[in-house]
Amino acid sequence: MNYMPTTILALGLLALTSRAQAATPGDASRGAEAAAMCASCHQPDGSGKNNEQGESWPRLAGLNAEYIAKQLRDYKSGERENATMKSFANMLSDQQILDIAGYYSEMTPTHGQEITDASEAVLQRGQKLAERGDWSKYIVSCKSCHGPENQGAGAVFPGIAGQHARYIEAQLKAWQSENRKNDPRDLMGSIARRLNDEDIQAVAAWLAAQSPVLNTEESQP
Ligand code: HEC
Ligand code: HEC
Repeated sequence: MNYMPTTILALGLLALTSRAQAATPGDASRGAEAAAMCASCHQPDGSGKNNEQGESWPRLAGLNAEYIAKQLRDYKSGERENATMKSFANMLSDQQILDIAGYYSEMTPTHGQEITDASEAVLQRGQKLAERGDWSKYIVSCKSCHGPENQGAGAVFPGIAGQHARYIEAQLKAWQSENRKNDPRDLMGSIARRLNDEDIQAVAAWLAAQSPVLNTEESQP
């Protein structure tokens, strides 16, 4: 009568396989493999890309891993709307999302593409918005959420210093038009709606010209 031991063995195996299927912490080397299909747009070094038509693919290198994973889940669920990214996110399992997030977060961040003809006055306006805000328009500084030097704060607030200017502009406009609304509690939407076109251009120009650093901070602010 070996019925009992077999059942126990089978149950044991079941427990083992289900544990193996549950997501484990992101593994950057596995992420490198899964990210092969992302490189045509985000580049092998994670630096992103900009083209002549004014389109911009964000830099992923050095962004916080949890932030990256959240965005991929949001594209997948439709919480963040983008047809291209939805189709790529759909191809990723929960585990691959964690692996890819780990992979890009460990890469050295590269410099953003700047607005080369931004005047000194525009850059000063941008710096003011980024570092001090504009109380006449009830705009708090970007760094009050995005952390010291706008390098990012924990998993919720991504680093925006050194991101491509056109991508920053596009995201701020997407929040204004409610094409992007995956921010917790409308935190970004309520800021973006107070910015006019000149403010957006100025803050994007200034932020893109700042040097990014690796966001390894784990804790939330
Ligand atoms: C055909 C080009 C293309 C490919 C390939 C592509 N992406 Fe993207 N990705 C984009 C664009 C464009 C955006 C900005 C979309 C938007 O405005 O929401 C983006 C945005 C993102 C973001 C959000 C970044 C941020 O700062 O919020 C992440 C994360 C991302 N992509 C990861 C990936 C991963 C991982 C892959 C591969 C599995 C991939 N992408 C493949 C074009 C691409
Ligand atoms: C009250 C808090 C808060 C303030 C102030 C704030 N942000 Fe944000 N911002 C957020 C949050 C939260 C996110 C991430 C939303 C998400 O989860 O997708 C974000 C995301 C962004 C992104 C998208 C980054 C990416 O990689 O896609 C940009 C660009 C941005 N903010 C620009 C700004 C600028 C410019 C300012 C100042 C004018 C600013 N933010 C002020 C909370 C804030």
